Amino acid sequence: MRARLRALRALLALFCALALTGLALAQEFPQFGDELYRPRLRQPGKDVMWLPTPDAMVTHMLQAAKTTGDDVVYDLGAGDGRIPIAAARQFGAKAVGIEYDANLAALAQRSAERAGVGGKVTIIRGDIFTEDFSAASVVTLYLLPDLNQQLRPRLLRMKPGTRIVSHLWDMGEWEPDDTLHAGESESFLWIVPAEVAGRWTLSEERSRWEAVVEITQRFQRIGGKLTIRDATQPMSFHTPDNPPGVRTGSCASPW
Ligand SMILES: C[S@@+](CC[C@H](N)C(=O)[O-])C[C@H]1O[C@@H](n2cnc3c(N)ncnc32)[C@H](O)[C@@H]1O
Repeated sequence: MRARLRALRALLALFCALALTGLALAQEFPQFGDELYRPRLRQPGKDVMWLPTPDAMVTHMLQAAKTTGDDVVYDLGAGDGRIPIAAARQFGAKAVGIEYDANLAALAQRSAERAGVGGKVTIIRGDIFTEDFSAASVVTLYLLPDLNQQLRPRLLRMKPGTRIVSHLWDMGEWEPDDTLHAGESESFLWIVPAEVAGRWTLSEERSRWEAVVEITQRFQRIGGKLTIRDATQPMSFHTPDNPPGVRTGSCASPW
């Protein structure tokens, strides 16, 4: 009888150990995709492999971008579509994913239908370097540093106030406006600045008063100087209604 009990206990312990190992493995190597297609973590992509942004970070990125139902969110390199799906499901936004891999693109569109947001999510099977994403008010990225740098001129030409959020990688000299953390992951937020650089002349005809304002700009940093009757002085920018994305400063030169 005792021997039987011991054997039963040993069996139970083995079962528990196997169950725990299975749970740990499932957490470490979760299954992605559906019955039609199961992508592998780190499988090669055109310019960068597939690795999903953790769900907690997806939510944090979209929250930090102040995403609402009025936004159009573009995810460049959409993978399994989790960012466009979250943008539509959690924030009510219209969302577009651009994904080069045909299997991932089809999976992302199926997942959007399954999540009940097929009407709000469009997955384009295409290349982020040739597809147009200028309609976006929020752009999300999880690419590579050099790909971010290649996209930077296009991102900077977007409408002022457009929010850009990149998981893990920055934009080189274009400093982020905010840094986000969720668990182990880090992301960066930028707001596309308005272009305000230039030389402006202000004059008042009757008193023949004239002032020249010269504004310099490097990304979101602005500086400037004011010249009135041959006297020049640095200008400070601290009005509450700066154009979106322009950070105020008080120096003659922003760098
Ligand atoms: C690191 S994954 C990020 C996936 C998703 N954005 C996320 O955060 O969960 C990068 C994705 O970009 C795709 N990709 C790579 N080069 C691409 C290109 N030139 N155009 C479109 N997609 C591309 C890959 O297939 C992969 O799915």
